[in-house]
Amino acid sequence: MEEQVVHEGLDARNIGLRNIEVADTKICSIDGINGKLIYRGYDILDLVNHSSFEETAYLLLFGDLPNQKQLQDFSKNLQESRTLPPQVIQNLKNKPKTALPMDILQSCVSELATYDPHITIETKEANIERAISLISKIPSIVALWNRIRNDQEIINPKKELSHTGNFLYMISGKMPSKEEEKIFDLCLILHAEHSFNASTFAAREIASTRAHMYACICGALGALSGELHGGANIQVMKMIMEIDEPQNVKNWVLEQLKVGKRVMGMGHAVYRTTDPRADVLARLSETICKGDNAKWYDITESVEKYTKKYMYELKKQPIYPNVDLYSASLYYSMGFPIDLNTPLFAISRIAGWAAHVIEEKFAEAAPKPALYRPKAVYVGKYCGPMGCEYVPISER
Ligand code: COA
Repeated sequence: MEEQVVHEGLDARNIGLRNIEVADTKICSIDGINGKLIYRGYDILDLVNHSSFEETAYLLLFGDLPNQKQLQDFSKNLQESRTLPPQVIQNLKNKPKTALPMDILQSCVSELATYDPHITIETKEANIERAISLISKIPSIVALWNRIRNDQEIINPKKELSHTGNFLYMISGKMPSKEEEKIFDLCLILHAEHSFNASTFAAREIASTRAHMYACICGALGALSGELHGGANIQVMKMIMEIDEPQNVKNWVLEQLKVGKRVMGMGHAVYRTTDPRADVLARLSETICKGDNAKWYDITESVEKYTKKYMYELKKQPIYPNVDLYSASLYYSMGFPIDLNTPLFAISRIAGWAAHVIEEKFAEAAPKPALYRPKAVYVGKYCGPMGCEYVPISER
């Protein structure tokens, strides 16, 4: 019999691929210690102050900020791709109205692959075209589904509106105010990209098999839906509604942490300080949460305060707000249904996912990406059970 090597199991520091470098990327850099987020060399805060989602999406996809003409052409391409194939709309009408919006999004993206006449063409140009089409169509799917499930008339896209303005119009049937459009556009910039998070890694892992763009994005959407990732923004809103009043926060958080439960919207796998996006979203949430909605911001702010306090007192562990903490109250006060919070994230993150899929498939410099194939540690008494004798089922 082979000599067995005693194995201690996986190094705890590497669980969940923490600290493992898996690829080179030129798309995004996160400095988790100093709370900096950089898209293609540009600080997220500069993009928030000066850019638009359309320009940021261009930057992520093509690597540089566009000139006037490039941005005009890109915006025109986005405008012209907003309409979904009629059969996809028909199929949406046949879905159960109770379906989760993330499942609807995933199934529609999968369907879009079946309407791509050039699906087997795997050039970089074809993938950029697919990326633009998906950046444009994902908001249409979210808007149409919300109207269909609420028995409302479908609103067709309006060409003269910006990418953001058109989405707000298609979902609500009303022309958005300049302020609403600006605030939502800032949210889209902030959510557009975040390096090798779970959904982006899922997309890249699928791209490494040479599967097509739609398959990669479907995988990313599935990963995003989970509550430890993009699904957290739905759980945050449920949490602050359950808390209901600012004076209830202190005890609620303490009870939660005492029994080892997590406070959604707090903590991050990379940041060891406040996520820079959370700061901007907190300011936007404070601006939008007015009148009856003011308490949602107040509760959220207290959740941040008491989670920091009690995590430190109970576990000696600092903790900070992440991107999902303040977006929940912000989206709620803008009138979005709670279960759309994660699809709203996807409307933006599609730009980052698509950029990563293209980088994974067409990286020019060595080391070029390879098929992902991590190693697992087969654990047991020694190295895991070996040499077991097969016993027929009747004798077990
Ligand atoms: N509330 C309470 N405890 C938390 C916590 C939170 N939000 N985030 C982390 N912790 C605790 C864990 O329970 C764990 O404690 P333990 O060592 O006693 O088991 C410790 O901190 C480390 O947690 P771990 O999940 O290994 O750390 P991480 O830094 O990799 O976690 C998240 C990152 C995002 C998974 C985690 O912070 C979390 O679950 N947050 C809530 C969900 C969320 O908001 N997700 C969106 C992320 S953008």
